[in-house]
Formats: sequence, structure tokens, C-alpha cells
Amino acid sequence: MNNRLLPKQSLAGKVIAVTGASSGIGAETARLAAAMGATIIGIARDAGRLDALHQSLPPGEHRMLIADLTDFAGLAGLVRELPKLDALVCAAGVSLLAPLRLLPESLIDKNLDINVKSPVMTVQQCLKQGRFNEEASVVLFSSIAAHTGTEGTCAYSMSKAALEGFMRPAAMELARKSVRINSIAAAIVRTPIFGQNDDSFFDQYRERYPLGLGEPVDVAAAAVFLASEASRYMTGSTIVMDGGSTWV
Ligand SMILES: NC(=O)c1ccc[n+]([C@@H]2O[C@H](COP(=O)([O-])OP(=O)(O)OC[C@H]3O[C@@H](n4cnc5c(N)ncnc54)[C@H](OP(=O)(O)O)[C@@H]3O)[C@@H](O)[C@H]2O)c1
Repeated sequence: MNNRLLPKQSLAGKVIAVTGASSGIGAETARLAAAMGATIIGIARDAGRLDALHQSLPPGEHRMLIADLTDFAGLAGLVRELPKLDALVCAAGVSLLAPLRLLPESLIDKNLDINVKSPVMTVQQCLKQGRFNEEASVVLFSSIAAHTGTEGTCAYSMSKAALEGFMRPAAMELARKSVRINSIAAAIVRTPIFGQNDDSFFDQYRERYPLGLGEPVDVAAAAVFLASEASRYMTGSTIVMDGGSTWV
């Protein structure tokens, strides 16, 4: 057997930057990747929560960088602080909802700035500054909202659809550098992104999804797969993780 083709999900020796590492899916991805041997560069705004993540990681050369990723003028400087990366996981995001009639322009901008412009310009800066190692992997967080039509999600859904629109041509350009880029379209998993701590909010989805409600770690497992060499023949693809709800 050609050993090169055995699935390689160990992340030993890999350096992975995770944006949105202070909470939810980003934090779980950082923990899972570190447990599999990766060195983590965690990026977010909240120093306290980043520090808590840092304390929870196994010993290593992990670093935490405090940054607002919508400070676009500062992005080039932030990327200059990064080492060469084997993976960039762009988990920072918001989900700001309003019905179309009441949707202010500022809410459209807030969704687009962190969900689209930030990952696009971070990937661009990493490319321009030669931050990607050979065969590096970029992981984006789309959502099933990019493909569905839940009321109130116009601005959020369009941001995730735009992100997937960015991913496909970017995959063609990055392939020339042997860099891959893929995304995950998750259904609802319980994180602080919805500003909801009420069980009944999540229970309604638990009943709608054939496999029940997923956990942040389920989505993190897909992110780690995309970051690893196990997915080395995938680029420009979206993994749908919806507990089977698409087929109901
Ligand atoms: N949870 C779900 O059900 C679900 C479903 C589908 C897709 N997703 C996507 O998955 C990704 C992660 O979501 P999550 O549920 O884990 O959300 P979360 O728990 O609210 O975490 C969001 C992260 O983004 C960071 N962030 C937000 N604005 C930022 C900014 N301007 N600069 C830097 N960091 C910023 C936050 O850190 P600070 O506040 O410390 O800056 C936090 O670490 C998002 O893109 C989301 O759209 C989530």
C-alpha cells in the first residue's frame, strides 16, 4: 500500500491560526487541533476568553493575538505577526438578525464585515505575505443559512452565500500555490452566537434535526479534517453538517 495515501489526521508539527478562538466552534477547533499535536495561534478581541483558551490547551508554543478583525487597516500588520501556517481556520463571525423591513444598513455591514471581508482579506494578506506553507489549508465557516430561507436571516444568509462565492474562484487561484480552501455549512449548534441561553430556543431545532442538535465539537471535527492532510484532495468544497435536516 502507498503509505502516502493513508489518512493523515495527526496534526503533529502543524501550525494552525484560528480566528474566533475565544468562543464556540473556534475554541473547540483550537482545543481539538492542539490535542492532535498542532501549535495554535488563537485570534479574537476578548483577552480574558483567549487566555482561558490558552490555559486549556496542552503544553506547547501556542500564542494568542488580540485583534479586531474588522480593523481592515490593521490586518496587514496582524498577518505580519503570524508564523508560516499549515492551516488558517476563519471561525470569527456574527449572526445579526432582523426582518427585511426593519433591517438597517449598519446591520448588513456588520454581518458582511466580519463574516466576509475579514476572512477574504486575511487570506489575501497571508497570500501576499507568503504566510502559507506548501499544501496549507484554509477553512471557512459558511452555514446552512447560505442555502436555506429562514425568515429574519437576510443579512446573515447573504454573508455566508458571499463567502462560498469567494471560496470557489479563490480555490482555483490558491491551487497554483498548492494551498486548499474549503468551507463548512453547519446547522445550529449551541454557542453564544445567537445571544440565547434559553433551552427552548435550541430545543426547537433538536426536534427538527434527525440526528438531534450537534455540538460545537462536531463542527470542530470537520474543521480539523479540512485542516489536515486527510482532506488533501479537496478544494472549493462545502461540507454540510446539518444533522440530516436538509432531507426532512
Ligand atoms: N453556532 C452555530 O450554530 C453556527 C452555525 C453555522 C455557522 N456558524 C458559523 O461558525 C462561526 C463560529 O460561530 P460560533 O457559533 O462559534 O460563534 P461564537 O461562539 O459567537 O464565536 C464567534 C467568535 O468570533 C469572534 N469575533 C467576532 N467578531 C470579531 C471581530 N470583529 N474580530 C475578531 N474576532 C471576532 C468572537 O471573539 P471576540 O468576541 O473575543 O472577538 C468569537 O471568538 C461563525 O462564522 C458562524 O457564522 C455557526
